Amino acid sequence: MSDRATPDPAADLRAAFLRHVCQTSPEPLALEVARAAGATVWDTHGRAYLDLLSGIGVANVGHAHPAVVRAVQEQAARYLHVMVYGEAIEAPQVELARRLAELAPGELDVTFFTNSGAEAVEGALKTARKFTGRDGFAAFEGGFHGDTFGALSVGGNPVYRRPFEPLLPGVRWLPFDDQEALRQIDDSIAAVIIEPVQGEGGVRIPHPEFLPALRRRCTEVGALLVFDEVITGFGRTGKLFAAEHWSVTPDLLVLAKALGGGMPLGAFVGRPEIMATLSHDPPLAHVTTFGGHPVSCAAGLAALDVLLQERLTERARQLGQQWTTHLAGCVGKRLRAVRGKGLLIGLEFADPDSTRRFARTCFANGLILNWTLHLDTVIRLAPPLVLTEEESARALAILSAALAA
Ligand SMILES: Cc1ncc(COP(=O)(O)O)c(C=O)c1O
Repeated sequence: MSDRATPDPAADLRAAFLRHVCQTSPEPLALEVARAAGATVWDTHGRAYLDLLSGIGVANVGHAHPAVVRAVQEQAARYLHVMVYGEAIEAPQVELARRLAELAPGELDVTFFTNSGAEAVEGALKTARKFTGRDGFAAFEGGFHGDTFGALSVGGNPVYRRPFEPLLPGVRWLPFDDQEALRQIDDSIAAVIIEPVQGEGGVRIPHPEFLPALRRRCTEVGALLVFDEVITGFGRTGKLFAAEHWSVTPDLLVLAKALGGGMPLGAFVGRPEIMATLSHDPPLAHVTTFGGHPVSCAAGLAALDVLLQERLTERARQLGQQWTTHLAGCVGKRLRAVRGKGLLIGLEFADPDSTRRFARTCFANGLILNWTLHLDTVIRLAPPLVLTEEESARALAILSAALAA
């Protein structure tokens, strides 16, 4: 039963949020959102926050980019959901698949659209099993791929797996960035899934030789290499896809978050002969009602145009360089290390307490940021790539002051 006795509407909404919206932690951010545009989120008290998380890797072109909003409105006026995925020819979906084929590395020419990242991971794992006829998977300690059963099964933190076991059997765990361990990948493995830069694992960037060595090993044993670029995709790391930093082409590329420009959309993209496995034996064995929703695809197309026209990948590279250099100057007793690729930056603190204090100070001073899921000593910075010079300077000033406090 809902409690509507409180006269203060803001307090009422907060109470209803805590009571009726399933809580996922004892400490939600509980920001009362009024609106968002560019790199700024305003709360219902009129307070502006610079969003250094981009809604966790979504708002690469900024919140509510006018071109994305226009595309959403125009598509919504034309048609919403018409038919389940894969049956009808819907122009926004086809055009986005065509653009992804042009932009993705190698021969990754065929896209299966989903609603989310975890769903895209599920699809990639199923595709790999069916295509290879093998049942094993290899994944990396510290990796994060989503919270559905399959995606959780290849998630690299036992703390989050344990309460939901039994999960998928036959997952082999490898240490991240350890070339020696790659020998454990053998011909029982259908797919190896990896984030080229681990996000929730604490912004971990592998050594230059690691991903090329992983590519070679997968090719040797006939395992598919799946790159989860849900967080690293769409310019975030200073390349359109992080795979380009290492000139490695995966067999399947998993995308979501920024793909939809703020609308829910995920995808896995692969070579035609691999993706063809989903159309037969039996047909319709992997389908979705809303995957590749026309409004989400229209938003994704508009966001992609903005990303390319405004050269945001380059901006991520330049700003990322500037931020990591600046923040590295603050390394000391509390801040132990700074690492990053483009505008995906990790600040490693000495202990969880310092990390929390830092996050709280920043929030009180108008910055949205947080620590990563698997490493509570690392703050991840992933601001919108459209951050202006003034916003960038303001963010750095607040971060530096909080580090000095
Ligand atoms: C690397 C990575 N893969 C997959 C996912 C899951 O995506 P979604 O939350 O859209 O299911 C996430 C979400 O944070 C992610 O960071």
